[in-house]
Amino acid sequence: MGNNYAIVGGSSRCKKLRRTDSRLRIVLEPLLMILELLEWCLTPASLRARTNGLLAEQIAIRHRANRCRSSWQSHLQSCKSFLTRQLSRGNHVAVLGSGHLRDIDLRHLKNNFSRITLFDVVHPLEVQILALFSGGRIELCSCDLSGALHVRDPSLPIALDKNLRSLLESADALVSSCLLTQLALPASHRWGKHFNSALVGAGVARIQQNHIELLESASTAILITDTAQRYGHHEWSPLLSEVRLPKPAERWVWDIAPAEEHGLEDLGAEQRSVEAFVFSSHA
Ligand SMILES: C[S@@+](CC[C@H](N)C(=O)[O-])C[C@H]1O[C@@H](n2cnc3c(N)ncnc32)[C@H](O)[C@@H]1O
Repeated sequence: MGNNYAIVGGSSRCKKLRRTDSRLRIVLEPLLMILELLEWCLTPASLRARTNGLLAEQIAIRHRANRCRSSWQSHLQSCKSFLTRQLSRGNHVAVLGSGHLRDIDLRHLKNNFSRITLFDVVHPLEVQILALFSGGRIELCSCDLSGALHVRDPSLPIALDKNLRSLLESADALVSSCLLTQLALPASHRWGKHFNSALVGAGVARIQQNHIELLESASTAILITDTAQRYGHHEWSPLLSEVRLPKPAERWVWDIAPAEEHGLEDLGAEQRSVEAFVFSSHA
């Protein structure tokens, strides 16, 4: 009996909380949209990054990361500590798909490398400000790391710009964190409107394999990537094409989105399986 009261009382409190939560959302959501729009206008970015949604996506990631802060915390910490343990001293480190640098221990990079170059198709405003006041220690390179943003047809050659490739090859260490599964998205969305899924899939596989080969050719490289996804307790489904990867040095699960984040409560929370690799030509 006592238990019944507790359950009934609990559920009405939950309803009240949900009502307050939805009222808060009605006020906050337009405000956040205005802030995102303002940031979109103020962030220096190429026309391509603005028009193909990459800048908007970059800004949206920050808001998503803030909403999911507590569930992302252990994943971000795992990325940082893997990098700290695996990256030793050098002159020049290149961070690929650096974005908001949430998963990178910048202090460790500053203590161990004299030159840090961040590569991304678009750099968030706060990172541009950080680089500006870094006394030249942090350089930004805005570039396409897929080699496919300008490729109209997935059966055409896909390759990195030559100057970009030689800049990357000259670095002592490459870091690619939470980029690999994102790398082909803009090109594959565009190809998907005109080509069949087999051709698009082959293009995506080439982009991902090229990225892995770039890391393999470096003297030292770290790759951290999500490799599979699941909702609730459903089966894991793979996120990468059939690429050749060595055995991971570490694995963990990233609670990427609580069920409410997608508005798909029936499916359940979304998780990603993350794997971390070390490539070394000295091995
Ligand atoms: C999931 S985020 C990576 C997370 C990032 N390390 C952080 O902590 O914010 C993926 C990043 O890859 C970048 N990106 C996606 N496609 C790219 C491309 N073709 N070339 C360069 N950067 C790309 C995005 O702009 C974004 O910053």
